[in-house]
Amino acid sequence: MKALVLAGGKGTRLRPFTHSMPKQLIPVGNKPVLVHCLENIRDIGVTEAGVIVGDGHEQIRALVGDGAALGLSVTYLVQEAPLGLAHAVLTAREYLGGDDFVMYLGDNVLAGGIAEAAAEFRARRPDARLLLAKVADPRQYGVAELGPGGRVLSLAEKPERPRSDLAITGVYFFTPAVHAAVDRIRPSARGELEITDAVRDLLDRGHPVTAGEYRGYWRDTGSVDELLDCNRAVLDGVRPGLHGQVDAHSRIVGPVVVEPDARIVRSHITGPAVIGAAALVTDSRVGAYSAIGRGCTLTMAGIADSIVLDGASISEMSGLTRSLIGRGATVAGGAGGHSSRLLVGDDAGVEVTAS
Ligand code: TTP
Repeated sequence: MKALVLAGGKGTRLRPFTHSMPKQLIPVGNKPVLVHCLENIRDIGVTEAGVIVGDGHEQIRALVGDGAALGLSVTYLVQEAPLGLAHAVLTAREYLGGDDFVMYLGDNVLAGGIAEAAAEFRARRPDARLLLAKVADPRQYGVAELGPGGRVLSLAEKPERPRSDLAITGVYFFTPAVHAAVDRIRPSARGELEITDAVRDLLDRGHPVTAGEYRGYWRDTGSVDELLDCNRAVLDGVRPGLHGQVDAHSRIVGPVVVEPDARIVRSHITGPAVIGAAALVTDSRVGAYSAIGRGCTLTMAGIADSIVLDGASISEMSGLTRSLIGRGATVAGGAGGHSSRLLVGDDAGVEVTAS
């Protein structure tokens, strides 16, 4: 079995961050979402992964390389334009050949891995196997109706009257039968070749299509709030470790990772939290569910429940929560600087002074 990882797309909902980086590279728990995907793929014993890329492919290649560091052999497949998930399958046809494959949307986080679904697929080899997750409002998702034995009875994309509360997650297992289905479908109203249409085509032609409910934590990181929720879920599983320096005037409470060469000076860190390599945290309070990237500088800062990307700096600014601060961004408050939420793109500079 091969893997097909989708790391192209437009990422419009995550602007301005996606103006300067592909959304799959935004970190949750200080690790890019794409790396979480690739690790889950490696963990089911797949070694060959095709990665669909579009704009921003250089940054993905720079991070993942040939995949060897992750135990994978990675091949990059350039999609001419983001013309849909089924178009990505078409783009990868030659690479996939006659192999079964797992298709994994590179912006999805499945914190419990995908081992159970992979075992189910390998045992019965239906032409398509979907992973489903219960959601509060299925009208926003692709929705599957399940029959006996995990057989899929119907599929609908963003239905007004959903037949179940089971949303289709971003992981699909396919046999090569999907390729003929992709050939038969036509672009949807939004001009994309939809994978849901390809799966429905298989269903309509009597091919076995099965699904199971995913028991772990699942989110699609399409928006800032979803990213922050994923960050919380990943940090909940963090294994604490103090690899950097923590001075005698600092306090560390709860599960905290301080990565190598990071320094914590006169500061209070409450876990779960991660302080990235070579970060410098001085006279600051870092609250639960914070992920502070590599080389960040926090000086007289107060932040919780947030993601700070590599090389960002925050000074004299307290009260930050549910914030996303881009790579190399500078956030500066004056004396008494306080803000509740900031979303700051890469390399931006923000000054907030107390009035
Ligand atoms: P989406 O989130 O559906 O699409 P998008 O990235 O264009 O985002 P937005 O709606 O905010 O503009 O894509 C799901 C995943 O699949 C994501 O990792 C991007 C990837 N993708 C491709 O690789 N090729 C494509 O043609 C499309 C549509 C998505």
